[in-house]
Amino acid sequence: MTVYNFSAGPAALPMAVKQQIADELFDWQGTGCSVMEVSHRSPEFVNLAEHTEQLARELIGISDDYAVMFIQGGARTQYAMLPMNLSSPQGQAVYAVNGHWGKLALKEGGRFTQAITTAPVSETTYASIPDYEADEIPQTANYFHYTSNETLEGVQWSKPPECGAVPLCCDMTSDLLSREFDMNRHAMIYASAQKNMGIAGITFVALRKDLIGQSANLIPMMNDYQTYANSGSMYNTPPTFPWYVMNLVLQWVKGQGGLAGIQRINRQKSGLLYEYVDRSDFYQNMVSKNCRSEVNVPFWLADESLNQAFLDNSAAAGLKALKGHKAVGGMRASIYNAIPEAGIEALISFMQEFERTHG
Ligand SMILES: Cc1ncc(COP(=O)(O)O)c(C=O)c1O
Repeated sequence: MTVYNFSAGPAALPMAVKQQIADELFDWQGTGCSVMEVSHRSPEFVNLAEHTEQLARELIGISDDYAVMFIQGGARTQYAMLPMNLSSPQGQAVYAVNGHWGKLALKEGGRFTQAITTAPVSETTYASIPDYEADEIPQTANYFHYTSNETLEGVQWSKPPECGAVPLCCDMTSDLLSREFDMNRHAMIYASAQKNMGIAGITFVALRKDLIGQSANLIPMMNDYQTYANSGSMYNTPPTFPWYVMNLVLQWVKGQGGLAGIQRINRQKSGLLYEYVDRSDFYQNMVSKNCRSEVNVPFWLADESLNQAFLDNSAAAGLKALKGHKAVGGMRASIYNAIPEAGIEALISFMQEFERTHG
């Protein structure tokens, strides 16, 4: 039986990437060792690290004005590193909050700087992006932070927000590499890898070089962007295996036609699923159509008493991890880059059959 893994993260890897990992596991690049066993200072690994950076720059469109860094501690560590490095306890930072992760970024940011929001933070489930007046954003703020794709709620910005001259910083953990976007509008982007970029343990960060090393705060070496920028992200022993997997994933993305090619496929996949959910009275998605996520599609059964049966039957049919996050409920299909169109077709067929037998 073909299994499709709709997990929100750690998430499915492309089959070709898994195959290459298996093929190279016992002898990576003729070293006679696995990539996990060689020094991060070896010529082979340094080569891989440089190639990874170069591929990411090429695919995402990151110019030499930015430093590219590979950092441990997940996206959550960036919630603290960002204010520590770019602001101060007296400084101000603006957060656009339109879901679970943005709310947590704001909370952590508030421990290190004066963190304000563009709109009151709602306690309810987010189904749209709150409006705000861009010309009211204080231009003295050290940065403006947003979450391009809210993984739990399935709410995605269609284009970067307006914030004047304030440096724009983005948590792209769940949609980096899934679509094209204007890198040059951003001062910083970051994404932990375990959704579209590989496996847990490494976070990709691109930050404008002029913003590095400007802070008067006392910052631990391991939380200072300058440490990573000055050392090729090898001040301490880096997460070599996740770095290697990211390299393979980037090569795979390039083979799919880069971000433009991937975006075409992802639009097609998510379009099919939303179209079916919207046509059905049995399932629904409550997110406003102008900000529906192309990579996380939450949906609810009209009769919630059928939730467990839906989950049991879908898992038995090889459609794994469709349960929505507990903060949101319902179901969620995370359809990142590695899920092929055939996976969406299998999911829709299952949903139709479940509707027919339980509706
Ligand atoms: C948008 C977003 N931001 C942040 C995180 C947290 O990432 P990490 O667990 O790598 O810290 C997640 C994880 O699901 C996420 O989806």
